[in-house]
Amino acid sequence: MRTTRRHLLMGAAALPLSRMLRAQSPNGTANDRVQIALIGAGGQGMSDVRASLQSGSKLVAVADIYQGRLDRSKELWGKDLFTTRDYREVLARRDVDAVIIATPDHWHQKISIDAMQAGKDVYCEKPMVQLLSDGHDVIDASKKTNRIFQVGSQRVSSVVYQKAKELLAAGAIGEFNMVEAWWDRNDAIGAWQYSIPTDASPATIDWDRFLGRAPKVPFEPVRLFRWRNYRDYGTGVAGDLFVHLFSGMHYVTGAIGPTRVYSTGGLRFWKDGRDVPDVLLGLYDYPKTDKHPAFNLALRVNFEDGAGESSGFRFVGSDGIMWIGSDVTVSKQPRNPEPGYTIGTFTQKEQDEYLRQYREKYPSRRANADNMRPQSDTHFAPPRGYNDSVDHHRNFLESVRSRKPVVEDATFGFRAAGPALASNVSYFERKMLEWDPETMKITS
Ligand SMILES: NC(=O)c1ccc[n+]([C@@H]2O[C@H](COP(=O)([O-])OP(=O)(O)OC[C@H]3O[C@@H](n4cnc5c(N)ncnc54)[C@H](O)[C@@H]3O)[C@@H](O)[C@H]2O)c1
Repeated sequence: MRTTRRHLLMGAAALPLSRMLRAQSPNGTANDRVQIALIGAGGQGMSDVRASLQSGSKLVAVADIYQGRLDRSKELWGKDLFTTRDYREVLARRDVDAVIIATPDHWHQKISIDAMQAGKDVYCEKPMVQLLSDGHDVIDASKKTNRIFQVGSQRVSSVVYQKAKELLAAGAIGEFNMVEAWWDRNDAIGAWQYSIPTDASPATIDWDRFLGRAPKVPFEPVRLFRWRNYRDYGTGVAGDLFVHLFSGMHYVTGAIGPTRVYSTGGLRFWKDGRDVPDVLLGLYDYPKTDKHPAFNLALRVNFEDGAGESSGFRFVGSDGIMWIGSDVTVSKQPRNPEPGYTIGTFTQKEQDEYLRQYREKYPSRRANADNMRPQSDTHFAPPRGYNDSVDHHRNFLESVRSRKPVVEDATFGFRAAGPALASNVSYFERKMLEWDPETMKITS
């Protein structure tokens, strides 16, 4: 059964898989379950598997270069699970329809392309790629192979962000002109000082396969278990966290990317050998398009924020503010009166003329109505325990079955990763960059 199924998948990419499966199995839904494999079974990979299983998939194989995580996968998901240190063995299996890629960032491009060329649909964690030069390869491979490819920035499937998108489109805050977003933390785990297992050794870890295309260095477990701290494997706070903010904001506004990118920051506190900053600020220009007005974006990550963990968005509009965190709030304040104060020193005739011209110039400023309106907060909260990752995996699995586009394809993924990675270039090269969001390239 499995062989036939894989064969059908490989040979009939354009046909809806669910229809093919139902044709084979008139009685059941069991065969409609997409069979997945995990490549990279660390913190996020295991969390992705849980979300995917909740969305109705079946896990059949796991690849990781650290034996402890393969053993743990069997403890969690059964001793019959196929496990391997070589992800290519997973890609060669006929019973795998789709793979979740949750390795360190420097492997995303290669494994994604290998997987799609092997006929697998792919859910690849953010950032879609480690380097700007990787992005177009993945986009091209997803088009050429006709595989479903979803990037794992789950906000774009969140009911909270859907609500924010609707509110913005309905003019809830008037015309927005600026977006601020931040992700602050204040503890060791937040700053990526993840645990290093006591059994880490060249016997339990396939060191060369971890390094991949990165420079060859002697075995040093901290580089694997805290890979985010090194530019050889990770993408700094911009690739780790700005990218989520870009994805969420692009989804809400319909924007495809900035035209100018500037970032600055520094390594202020976590001087543990890392070669990336722990404070980063980014400024971005978004020109007007048919989807949104011109606006500026300001992003911030601070791993030494005395106030503790906090993350969110503040959309600033002509008629109010929209906050997004784990929920959405639109706030409106009484507006200041039309010109008063010094106008009262003019003659009545001059006051009338002044106000007439003012109202003509700013017709949306309805002084009396706005002046009288009370402070108001409109609030939307998701159901208790809501998990946007489950919705994001469900969206992926539905596309695997229907062959309809996912919500966060390779182009969307690179339009979020691109400006995030360009922020690193700006920081390390100490210069402002021009970015073309259409072609997804640095232009100067
Ligand atoms: N969407 C989210 O909210 C979210 C959250 C956290 C992490 N992530 C992303 O998920 C990815 C993994 O992050 P993490 O925190 O789980 O890291 P992690 O270090 O906990 O896990 C990575 C795993 O990949 C394994 N690995 C390394 N090289 C490999 C290779 N060549 N083949 C197979 N396995 C390999 C490691 O041994 C490790 O078990 C990153 O790209 C990260 O940006 C996304």
